[in-house]
Amino acid sequence: MTTDQKNIVNLDFKKDKKILNFSDFQKQNIKFDITKLQEAYNQIVQTKKFDDGGGISHFGAICLTRIPGDPESVKGQKARGLYWTKPDKSGKEVARDISIDESAYSEFIPDFENTYFKEVFDVLSSKYKLGRVRILLKEPRSTLSWHRDPEPRLHIPIITNPGCLMVIDNVAKHMPADGSVWITNNTKYHNAFNGGEENRIHLVACVLDYKFN
Ligand SMILES: [Fe+2]
Repeated sequence: MTTDQKNIVNLDFKKDKKILNFSDFQKQNIKFDITKLQEAYNQIVQTKKFDDGGGISHFGAICLTRIPGDPESVKGQKARGLYWTKPDKSGKEVARDISIDESAYSEFIPDFENTYFKEVFDVLSSKYKLGRVRILLKEPRSTLSWHRDPEPRLHIPIITNPGCLMVIDNVAKHMPADGSVWITNNTKYHNAFNGGEENRIHLVACVLDYKFN
């Protein structure tokens, strides 16, 4: 190689092109009726208020399952649960919130039994070992922390907009509200943001028997 050739910058960017890997977002082989999901959501918000998870801004949760007979099991920090985050420039990981015995959340809350969510819950719990099942609200122009959770999560988007994305590691994905069911690898660092101007509503369940490679 001559000295001249050594100084030539390689502009063949294709060589370094990375193919995005969406394997942390796994679409399941089940589909629900999105109109019925939205109707059920409208039905429950007439009587239930979102819990703010113990004072978390732009976040809201309505639990659909609880520890049998225990109304306290769906309130405050228990509506949120343990996660790990890297809050500052040191990059050091810290644990936040309280540990949850997910497998104890086996009772579908009787108040919601006459909604489509009961049918959805019955189908899901016949296929997966579920922990808490919640309706989660992400307010417009808001984000979660950069964090990881103890287990994968099942998502059914109910109301969304194109500016709602979930980011896992360095891969971002929009999950449309079309009745599809996704399992996401929340054991890796992730975030979800709503860059739209309407609330984002997902049904989110903790999945206790799902392994990512
Ligand atoms: Fe999470």
